[in-house]
Amino acid sequence: MNNLKKWGRTAAVVGTMMILASGCSLPFSMATKTDFDNISSEQDNQDSIQNGQNSAKGDRKQSKKNSDSADQNKVEKSEEPPSTEKNSSDKPMLKETIKVTTDGTRIITNPASLLVCANKQRNLPADYIPQHLVIPDIRFIYGPNAHKPNMQIRKIAAQPIENLFHAANEADIHLFGVSGYRSYDYQVTVFARNVKEYGSEEEANQVSAHPGQSEHQTGLTMDVTAPSVDYRLTQKFGQTKAGKWLAAHAWKYGFIIRYPKGEHEITGYEYEPWHIRYVGKKAAKVIAEKDLTLEEYLSK
Ligand code: DAL
Ligand code: ZN
Repeated sequence: MNNLKKWGRTAAVVGTMMILASGCSLPFSMATKTDFDNISSEQDNQDSIQNGQNSAKGDRKQSKKNSDSADQNKVEKSEEPPSTEKNSSDKPMLKETIKVTTDGTRIITNPASLLVCANKQRNLPADYIPQHLVIPDIRFIYGPNAHKPNMQIRKIAAQPIENLFHAANEADIHLFGVSGYRSYDYQVTVFARNVKEYGSEEEANQVSAHPGQSEHQTGLTMDVTAPSVDYRLTQKFGQTKAGKWLAAHAWKYGFIIRYPKGEHEITGYEYEPWHIRYVGKKAAKVIAEKDLTLEEYLSK
């Protein structure tokens, strides 16, 4: 059995244990779509809960500036057109990619750009659904036969994330995908659950995006985890061999750590060492070399 399959099987076993512990009685191989939805809910909950538990402000470095359809799982065969943004001089500056509606809502005008920037001041159109979503050939925590909408990523980022996972494997780092594309409607559910969990919208919004403000809606993002943190999304991941490897090598494959430690003032969110975002190799290299946030990169 090759390493990929071996670790995939391990994840399936551990995942089954996690589900059993959370009250679901079916192993992956017997689970229905509804069960997978529940598994997804568990994971999204874990994201926020773990993040909140580990969000001590003292842990931050100094800030530099003080519903998806199951049909979507069918892999699209058509090619995604190449990005027109070939180098950093083509970058779409933040101030040029926003329009303000009559009710004052700030809407992103380039949602399909590889350099799209969604945050608390910049909303994706509610009806924006990326084209060319595919499930990449990487290990997920859900087991080998799972086909869930949130396993998808834009096709343009699929080979890069496969290469990233392959390189990790070669370094004896075993990464697992947790959550990629999330539709606007699904984020409504995720955020509502977090509001319940945290007690207020304000608290929930420190770790979880309002619908329209989550870059998971762009299809360019994947949350990843590893066995060393029990397949959870936790800030402790950043201190593990896997988390350190990811932070050091993701840029080579066109990914950035979108919510770095100590950048809450700029990004709006606590440190998320598990949340990688595809921006393309050229932008990722500059962002990593200069230790920038996406917001800073697109402002200068
Ligand atoms: N946790 C990130 C900020 C999101 O909800 O998209
Ligand atoms: Zn994420």
